[in-house]
Amino acid sequence: MQKALLKWNGQEAEFPVLEGTEGEMAIDFTKLRQQVGLVSFDPGYGNTASCKSAITFIDGEKGILKYRGIPIEELAEKATFLETAYLLIWGKLPEPAELKGFLRQITAHTLLHEDVKRFYTGFPKDAHPMAVCSAVVAALSAFYPELLDPRGAEAEHGAIIRLLAKFPTIAAFSYKHSIGQPFIYPDNKLDYTSNFLRMMFATPCEDYRPDPVAARTLDLLLILHADHEQNCSTSTVRLVGSSLSNLFASISAGINALWGPLHGGANQKVLEMLESIEKGGGSVEAFVEKAKSKNDTARLMGFGHRVYKNYDPRAKIIRKACYEVLNKLGVRTKLLEIAVKLEEIALKDDYFLSRRLYPNVDFYSGIIYQALEIPINMFTVLFAMGRLPGWIAHWDELQKDPDFKIGRPRQIFVGPTGKHYLPIGQRKQ
Ligand code: CMC
Repeated sequence: MQKALLKWNGQEAEFPVLEGTEGEMAIDFTKLRQQVGLVSFDPGYGNTASCKSAITFIDGEKGILKYRGIPIEELAEKATFLETAYLLIWGKLPEPAELKGFLRQITAHTLLHEDVKRFYTGFPKDAHPMAVCSAVVAALSAFYPELLDPRGAEAEHGAIIRLLAKFPTIAAFSYKHSIGQPFIYPDNKLDYTSNFLRMMFATPCEDYRPDPVAARTLDLLLILHADHEQNCSTSTVRLVGSSLSNLFASISAGINALWGPLHGGANQKVLEMLESIEKGGGSVEAFVEKAKSKNDTARLMGFGHRVYKNYDPRAKIIRKACYEVLNKLGVRTKLLEIAVKLEEIALKDDYFLSRRLYPNVDFYSGIIYQALEIPINMFTVLFAMGRLPGWIAHWDELQKDPDFKIGRPRQIFVGPTGKHYLPIGQRKQ
C-alpha cells in the first residue's frame, strides 16, 4: 500500500493512500488527529471522501457517470426506472423472476393508508409540494413502527418497497391537494410512470390515459436522476442514517436537502429563469451579463456543478430527448430556443469557460416536464422520485459498512475566548 508523508511541527507521520477501482486516490486521514493532533479543514467537502462506495462512479473531468459500473447512456437507452432502482439498491440487474417479484411487490403497496390522507387536508393549498412530500414521508414512520429497525433485514426490505411504491401516490396527492381536486387512487394495471401521470391528471369525472411517449420520457428522466454519489441530499440521508434513524426519517431529510435551489430546486428555478427572460423580451445576452456580475446575486441556473468540469452526461441525454419529445408530442415552446441560445452564449464566454461551467442535469429537464404538462412546483418532487433509489442504496450501504460510524465532523472554533457570565445589571445597553 502506498503512503503519504505529512511533515508538521518537527513531526513526520505516514498515512495510507487508498485507491478506488476506477483509479481515484485518497489519503486516509482516519488517524490524523490521533497521530499529529491536527484535523483537516475542507468546507463544502470538496476534497473529502466521506465513505467508500460501490454504487455510482463519476469522472467529472471526462463527463462520465456509471451506476454499478454500467454507463448512464446504456441505462437511459435500454433500462426502465424500476430496473435501475433494483440495480442501485441490490447491486445487480434483476433476473426475469427477480424483476417480476419486485414489480409485484411494488404494485401491492401503491395505496396510502387512509389515515395518511388526513395529513393533506391540514396543509394550506399553496404549500409547496416538497414540504408536503417530506412531511408525509416522515409520517410513514408513524404508520409502520415494525419497519423502523435500520439493522433488521425484513424491516428494511419492507420500508424500501413501501417508499418506492408509495412515493408517486404521495407526490400526486400533494398536487391534487394544491389544486383542490379529489385524490385519484393508483391503478395497478399501469406501469410506474403511467400510474403517476394518471394520478396527477385524471379526475373522478374524466379518466386520463397517459401517452406512452410521456410515460417513457418521464421514466428516462427518473433514470437520469436516480443516483449521483455523495451529493448534498444523499450525504444528508447518510448522515441522518448514521445516527441509526429509520429509513423514512432519513429519506424525509434528503427530500428537504434536495429542495434548495443550488441542488434539486434548480430545475424549478431554470424554468422560472427562462420564463422571465421570455417575458422580458428574450434578451439572453443581458441575462448572461447579469449572471456574471459580481454585484448581482443571479446565477445562470442549470449551469455549473461541483464535480463536473465538463458537460454533464445527463444534460447531453436530456438535451437530445428534449428535441425528440417536443417533436413527438407536437409541443412548440420559445423556452427551448432561449435555453439553446443561453447555452451557446455561455459556452463561448470566458467567464463560464474559465470556471468550467457547463449545463447540468437541470438545464433542459424543466422544458421536458413542461411539455408533459407537469406544473412547475412539481419539478423538484420528480427529482426526488428519481433520486429515491439512490438515497435508499446509500442508506443501505452505510448500514452494512464495516467502517460504520455516526457522522460527526469537527470544526475550527473561531469564536470569543475567556469570557464570563455577567449579571444583567452589569451589561452595557
Ligand atoms: N452562474 C454564474 N456563475 C456561477 C455559476 C452559475 N450557475 N455557478 C458557479 N458560478 C461561479 C461562482 O460565482 C464562482 O465564481 P468566482 O470563482 O468568481 O467566485 C465559481 O463559478 C465557482 O462556483 P462555486 O459556487 O464556488 O462552485 P460550487 O462547486 O460550490 O457550486 C453549484 C456548484 C452547482 C452550486 C453552482 O455551480 C451553482 O450555483 N449552479 C446553479 C444552480 C444549479 O444549477 N444547481 C444544480 C446542480 S446539478 C443538480 C444537482 O445535482 O443538484
